[in-house]
Amino acid sequence: MTEQDKTDETLDESAATKGEATEQPAAKAAEAPKVAAKPAAKPAKKEKEPAPPGGPPTAVVEQKRVPGSPVVSRRRVLQIGIWGGIGAAVAAMGASFVDFVYPRNVSGFGGTVSVAAVAVPSPGQKVQVPAGRFWLVNLTEEQGGPGLLALWWKCPHLGCTVPWKPNFVWPDPTTGADTKGWFRCPCHGSTYTHAGVRVFGPAPRPLDTMDLKIGSDGRVTVNTGDVTPGASDNPERAVRI
Ligand code: FES
Repeated sequence: MTEQDKTDETLDESAATKGEATEQPAAKAAEAPKVAAKPAAKPAKKEKEPAPPGGPPTAVVEQKRVPGSPVVSRRRVLQIGIWGGIGAAVAAMGASFVDFVYPRNVSGFGGTVSVAAVAVPSPGQKVQVPAGRFWLVNLTEEQGGPGLLALWWKCPHLGCTVPWKPNFVWPDPTTGADTKGWFRCPCHGSTYTHAGVRVFGPAPRPLDTMDLKIGSDGRVTVNTGDVTPGASDNPERAVRI
């Protein structure tokens, strides 16, 4: 064996030794997963905590709000519902009340009162109409007419009912002569002519008049809800038959 051959043999051995050394880690790496695949040790069991006195907590789910939409809470919705209901109930009660008190086809005092043609007084006479609380007077020309006049029998002083006193004598202010027959208030003595014009007493004005219409059949209809305060022109308000 030459010197050169010895050197080559040494190199081959060293290379073989190196190859062994490089192969070893690869083999170890191939074996490594086998170790890792071993089942992990089971975690120690936690001891169960005792339940809270009020039971398990309730989960709170928050609703997602759409961006830009108004925020209305449940409390607000409830308030709107309650007050809306109350408002509707009050409005309904108000409407029922108005419907109940609204006058419809009212007859009698406050409404219209009819007097049949046969019951209309003759000229110079008068009749009391209790249903309408008025006197129906048929004035002659001497009394300021002619025509029919409806005089509310309520005294303008303090409201006493004024009767017709056919035998009461009082001086007529226009002639100065004693005249028989006047409307005379029993309370404080206010005295009125056939047409209700005041000639004496504390009353502030003549007797009030009511709207009067005469039908084609002679029936007289008086609207007792349409009252005109008495004045010196009472005789001119008479309606000709
Ligand atoms: S109430 Fe008629 S005069 Fe006084």
